[in-house]
Order: sequence, then C-alpha cells, then structure tokens
Amino acid sequence: MQAERFVRESRTFKASHVLPPDTNNHNTLFGGKLMAHIDDVAAISAMKHARGPVVTASTDSVDFLQPIRVDYEVSLEAFVTWTHNTSMEVFVKIVSEDLHTGERTVCATSFLTFVAIGKDGKPTKVPKVIPETEEEKFLHQNAAERAEARKQRRMRSKHLADLLGTRRPWEPKE
Ligand SMILES: CC(C)(COP(=O)(O)OP(=O)(O)OC[C@H]1O[C@@H](n2cnc3c(N)ncnc32)[C@H](O)[C@@H]1OP(=O)(O)O)[C@@H](O)C(=O)NCCC(=O)NCCS
Repeated sequence: MQAERFVRESRTFKASHVLPPDTNNHNTLFGGKLMAHIDDVAAISAMKHARGPVVTASTDSVDFLQPIRVDYEVSLEAFVTWTHNTSMEVFVKIVSEDLHTGERTVCATSFLTFVAIGKDGKPTKVPKVIPETEEEKFLHQNAAERAEARKQRRMRSKHLADLLGTRRPWEPKE
C-alpha cells in the first residue's frame, strides 16, 4: 500500500441535468436522489484514495440550503479531507447552475466517512492524506474534531439500537 496520497488524487466530479423523473411536485430535485448522488460521488473519491473497496460508515447531516430546479445542472465535487487508520472523511459540495444564465448556487455540503475493506472483509489501513490548497488545509485541520463528534454519535446510535431492539409493535414481548 502507498503510504500517502495528495487530496487532489481523490478529487471527483459528477454532473447531471435535472429532469422530470428525478423531481418532485415542486419541480425540484428529490432529496433522496441528491443523497444518492452524494453517496455515489463520495464513494468513488474514497476508492481513489484507498484503491480498494470501501463502505459508507456514516453521513453527517445534509442541509438542503437551496432547492435544485428542473432543467438546472446539479454538480457535485468530492475529495478526501482526512484519514485515520481505516477510515476516510470525504467532503462533498453540491452546486446548481441555471443552464440558461450560468448563475450558480451552493445548494448543500456534506461530510461522509468511508471505511476501506480488505480481502478478509475487515477494515484495512488507508494511506495518509496530504492537503495542499488553503481549502484542503482548512478542512483537514478541523477534521479530527468532527471525527470525535461522530465517535460519540455512533456510541449513542448503538445505545439507541440496543434499547429499541428488533421486536415489532404487534409481536408479543418475551
Ligand atoms: C463501518 C464498518 C465497516 C466498521 O466496522 P467495525 O468492525 O465496527 O470496525 P471498527 O469499530 O474498528 O471501525 C473501523 C473504522 O471505522 C470507523 N467508523 C465505524 N463506524 C463509524 C461511523 N458510524 N462513523 C464514522 N466512522 C466510523 C471507526 O472510527 C474506525 O476508524 P479508524 O480505523 O480510522 O480509527 C461496519 O460497521 C459496517 O460494515 N457497517 C455497515 C456499512 C454499510 O453497509 N454501508 C452501506 C453500504 S456501503
């Protein structure tokens, strides 16, 4: 495995034309469709860094800041901002463009965490990531803090899952 890679080596872009099958009754892109685009572009970016299979471990909140209208372009830019042992943080910026006027808007941003998976199906080490630009350095320097918040959130999620269990409401209690 390569010991380190530059952030730029994982930069990934994806653009699509927003058309009616992907829009809702407001003539804007379905939230679920945008989330699928985000996961897709982020997974490609993580694979470019790990050069192997990855799984999505978590997605931080996605705030839909602006609607993305039908007949607009939606473009997503993703790159690995930070790595730990087997996990990688990927940042995604979502921009819409009015194809008639060229006006662009940042519609959403998101951070996702991917884990590299080895041949044995278990998490495996990833190369360190080296930021170069101001933007990359800015996102890199506060990533450890975000990772710590995710660790706490994961513990709370596990606790909640244990608490709720798998029993359906109509099934008898044991
Ligand atoms: C993510 C997964 C591989 C972690 O496996 P695990 O055996 O629990 O491994 P660990 O607890 O040792 O965690 C491995 C790494 O993942 C990170 N991680 C695990 N869950 C995480 C979460 N919810 N958010 C952020 N990071 C997470 C850990 O911090 C650790 O990072 P590090 O090695 O860089 O320190 C496992 O929980 C899994 O397979 N989840 C389902 C993934 C999935 O189906 N995704 C959707 C389809 S791709």
